[in-house]
Amino acid sequence: MAPVTHHYEKVPYSSSQEEPTDYYLAYHIAEAHSSEQVIERQPRKKRLGRAHFIFIALFIVSYMVFFIARGSFASTRVAAGMRQKCRETMHRFGLAGHGMHRNMSTATGAKLPTHYTLPSGDKIPAVALGVWRAGRGEVGEAIKAALKLGYRHIDGAWIYGNEAEVGQAIRESGIPRKDLWLTSKLWNTFHAPEDVEPALDESLARLGTDYLDLYLIHWPVAFKKGGNNDVDFELTENPYPTWQKLEEMVEKGKVRNIGISNFNIRRIQNLTANPLKVKPAVNQVELSYWNPQPELLQWSKENGLLLEAYSPLGSAEKVKESLDVAEAKEIAKDLGITPAQLYISWHVQRGTIVLPKSVNSARIEENFGVVALPDSAIQRLEIAATSHKPLRTVDPSKNWGVDIWN
Ligand SMILES: NC(=O)c1ccc[n+]([C@@H]2O[C@H](COP(=O)([O-])OP(=O)(O)OC[C@H]3O[C@@H](n4cnc5c(N)ncnc54)[C@H](OP(=O)(O)O)[C@@H]3O)[C@@H](O)[C@H]2O)c1
Repeated sequence: MAPVTHHYEKVPYSSSQEEPTDYYLAYHIAEAHSSEQVIERQPRKKRLGRAHFIFIALFIVSYMVFFIARGSFASTRVAAGMRQKCRETMHRFGLAGHGMHRNMSTATGAKLPTHYTLPSGDKIPAVALGVWRAGRGEVGEAIKAALKLGYRHIDGAWIYGNEAEVGQAIRESGIPRKDLWLTSKLWNTFHAPEDVEPALDESLARLGTDYLDLYLIHWPVAFKKGGNNDVDFELTENPYPTWQKLEEMVEKGKVRNIGISNFNIRRIQNLTANPLKVKPAVNQVELSYWNPQPELLQWSKENGLLLEAYSPLGSAEKVKESLDVAEAKEIAKDLGITPAQLYISWHVQRGTIVLPKSVNSARIEENFGVVALPDSAIQRLEIAATSHKPLRTVDPSKNWGVDIWN
């Protein structure tokens, strides 16, 4: 965060001044009595007595006002507004910030979208429960709590290793399959066209369903067969054969929509340059206060590709820090919501799906409390998020020996 400088006006007297001088007396008498004639009519002694009284009263009042103001000004909305104006001006003149920080709001004080419509015509719920690192023995309860609260969208993946428990909890919830949105993801080991359908079938069997609402290529990285996470650079650079197999899964009715995850603009264009039968419906990427990716967001809007915000709270590694960001705490306090609710609402207001993960029922409920934010709040958060160096919390590039973001 940029350091904030406070400016205070100097007052005429300081505590170090003991007795007011005649100059100050005369000044304040003149201030208090607009007409010199009024003073003229009084005897000098009486005038001075009254002047003393007025001066002392003024002195005490201004002394108190100054100290009260100095103590509390920094935390007022006026001060916050001044700081904000200052930052906006700096940004306008390109004196601060990383990347763009346009107002990405889709709703200006209006209601937030509860769903987005995909190219297939399907409506995907804007808020999902993420289940990465939701351990066995806890993920089922989390799913049931979420469904009870009104969540209808679960974001899972083959690699999360918890699809069977997710499926079991869904069945126990009694909610009809048609009312739910289930997403899963194709792991890197299964990009070879002949491996796609068996991997999908495994996810379907574990979830206990015969179709997915959305199936994503989890990473733009293909591993060679053999289980050593050795990168197949050819298939990584050309994901079209994998994509064609996903299109076939749509034709077969095993998935209703297909998409990508962790693709940058170059990799998206590399894929969509092919004669696709089905265009990617979404791109699931890291979007958070730490990594807001305004350029990707803008580009995706211009190119009609919906983004899904993963790690929206900064993931387990940075969630504490996210919730402790001074600007977010201040905005959330002003709006009477929690910082987590502020971030999650901000993502929806930016026009993305958002996938907060929690296995704690109180936090699951908190995270579902999405509200429409005033434009000023969105802009403040957008500027704050784009004013520091972007930082990814999820980046396996080094482990896999491939620059995923290139
Ligand atoms: N496509 C991809 O490559 C990819 C990568 C990463 C994530 N994702 C998806 O995105 C989902 C979300 O991302 P994420 O799990 O990395 O991170 P996240 O949702 O940003 O943060 C999850 C962490 O925040 C805690 N938390 C949640 N709500 C909270 C609240 N209101 N107050 C305080 N702490 C809270 C959770 O702990 P508790 O559970 O204890 O509440 C957990 O430690 C994943 O579950 C997954 O579905 C996809």
